[in-house]
Amino acid sequence: MKILSIETSCDETAISLLEITGELNRPEIKVLANSLISQVPIHEKYGGVFPTLAKREHQKNLPILLEKTLEEAKESFESPDIDYIAVTTGPGLEPALWTGITFVEELSQRWGKPIVPVNHMEGHIYSVLYNLPENLRLELPALALLVSGGHTELVYIKDFGVYEILGRTLDDAAGEAFDKVARILGLSYPGGPKISELAEKSRQRKNELDFTLPRPMLHSKDLNFSFSGLKTAVLYKVRAEEVITEEYKEDMARAFEDAAVDVLVAKTRNALIGLSGEAQTLIVGGGVSANTQLSLQLRKLATEFPGLNAYFPNQLLTTDNAIMIGIASYIRVSRDPELLKRDIKLEADGNLELTS
Ligand code: KG4
Ligand code: ZN
Repeated sequence: MKILSIETSCDETAISLLEITGELNRPEIKVLANSLISQVPIHEKYGGVFPTLAKREHQKNLPILLEKTLEEAKESFESPDIDYIAVTTGPGLEPALWTGITFVEELSQRWGKPIVPVNHMEGHIYSVLYNLPENLRLELPALALLVSGGHTELVYIKDFGVYEILGRTLDDAAGEAFDKVARILGLSYPGGPKISELAEKSRQRKNELDFTLPRPMLHSKDLNFSFSGLKTAVLYKVRAEEVITEEYKEDMARAFEDAAVDVLVAKTRNALIGLSGEAQTLIVGGGVSANTQLSLQLRKLATEFPGLNAYFPNQLLTTDNAIMIGIASYIRVSRDPELLKRDIKLEADGNLELTS
């Protein structure tokens, strides 16, 4: 299948042209072209993503990226050799999602090619298919921990396209908590990587921290998360401090990262125990999957379960991108080829759920 895929759910405008063939557990994925414009520098000063600004930027960037993608793949604009166009329809910021949808509707009309709607979270799940270790397949059922700026979910993947949400955050998403704590410490958006860097400096010093932060819901019986109390605990501690030194910031970043990672790992462990060995794979997806501490601890966790493989996305595919959207569309189309013949009314859904 040759797929033109488009992602505009948040603050990255991304287009890729892929050729995907083969079985779903280990598809052959060729990236013929891939381009992305990040709006991070634009949203940085607002400390988060500003929806109307995101929409305006997507509208401006999409035609530029399309031209670049087609040129890179040596395809003509008049009639590119593709089977269909994939687009994210949710979850995400609705004004941003609509720009992608309107754009592909025009292309679909012009080229007479079908559109395949994609759930952004399915993109994060299947992003791991891009760089599976040699000779390994994505064996299902699997448990996915999806951790991004907008979501924190534990998803049981019974089969391709068959999902059950086992737990989710009741307030802030994990990435959002990293971003908010970064802001409290005077760091710019997105804060995840910056918090991580500071925390590492503190770890290098090997000093004992003279404070700890709460681990919200660590002992709750369910698989839900809560990060807003953790963020507030950081806020109160920082406010109570008279002088904020660089060392204090580093220690606070470490205390926060340790607390967030502890909860994510503990709940993932509980989910795996609850599945009584049924999950053959642990998938970690979303921007926060790039976090070194989290991936270290989750890889360690996987060794507690015999036969369980843990897969993470390639660094390029941790944050939002169009390659993962193309891959997720391939799964959808392979399971339901009739999808390409159906006239689907596309609609942006900011809260789109992962349903079977
Ligand atoms: O998946 P993503 O690109 O966007 C959403 O779909 O939300 O995730 C972005 C989030 C941001 O909150 C960012 O701070 C976080 O991922 N992030 C990290 C790291 N890299 C990105 N959080 C912790 N550690 C990192 N290394
Ligand atoms: Zn995302």
